[in-house]
Amino acid sequence: MKIAITGKGGVGKTTLASLLAHIYAREGERVLAIDADPSPNLASALGFPPSLVAEIVPIAQMGDLIAERTGAKPGTVGGFFTLNPRVDDIPDRFSAFHRGIRLLQMGGVKRGGSGCLCPENALLKSLMAHLLLDRSEVVILDMEAGVEHLGRGTAKAVDAFLIVVEPGRRSLQTARLIRDLASDLGVPRLYLVGNKVRHEGDRGFIDRNSPGLPLLGYLSADPKVIEADLKGMAVFDAAPKVVEEARDIWQRLKRGEPTSTSVEG
Ligand SMILES: Nc1ncnc2c1ncn2[C@@H]1O[C@H](COP(=O)(O)OP(=O)(O)O)[C@@H](O)[C@H]1O
Ligand SMILES: [Mg+2]
Repeated sequence: MKIAITGKGGVGKTTLASLLAHIYAREGERVLAIDADPSPNLASALGFPPSLVAEIVPIAQMGDLIAERTGAKPGTVGGFFTLNPRVDDIPDRFSAFHRGIRLLQMGGVKRGGSGCLCPENALLKSLMAHLLLDRSEVVILDMEAGVEHLGRGTAKAVDAFLIVVEPGRRSLQTARLIRDLASDLGVPRLYLVGNKVRHEGDRGFIDRNSPGLPLLGYLSADPKVIEADLKGMAVFDAAPKVVEEARDIWQRLKRGEPTSTSVEG
């Protein structure tokens, strides 16, 4: 199972990614969680101990590794470097492991003008292809708002592309943009997840304004999620109600059966 999670900033992508990672791990699956947000915080949502987190170096920041694998220094634009560097040893060597979850941080690449044909991007693209196409674990990809890191070849390998929204017009607008980008790339299975839902009215709002995608479920707005963040605890350990709701989402993902397909608003 390869799951990509996206949505507007702050809607709860990282929260959902951390919950699904722990649920799969608890079920005995090997899980590879990938923090592809340039300002990474999946480690803390997963409850990784700070000492472990301190050891993780985001791949994009590994100058020597990028130079060694691509044959060019990071930051170089143009010039000669290999577009398909070796990456298969990276996930195990440069990740942290805790409670059945292997965590990898991609790091941010400063994008120069037109799409940046730079060595660090070549390495990240190759790595992403490897993670989605060759690895046998459950892969959970915590992304930015968009389809960065996915290409035509890798888009099809995503089994479920989850767009997280919250009750509010802006996140639903962003969801529409992401839906269009993902469809253009050829991502086959797009789903919606509603987060921070306070009451029936919020569910209704999301339904009415949905970009017409099958809905996997809702997570409640729960002060325990915020408390987990304050205490540096795993959301999975601190917010049992939201964990139960995430379990329902996980079940539907497994069966490939969403609750409904709402009409486009
Ligand atoms: N269901 C929820 N209930 C309450 N707070 C939440 C919930 N989901 C996320 N949050 C809070 O919202 C903020 C953004 O969540 P996060 O998962 O980091 O979003 P993203 O990764 O999309 O930027 C965090 O402070 C988080 O604790
Ligand atoms: Mg995040």
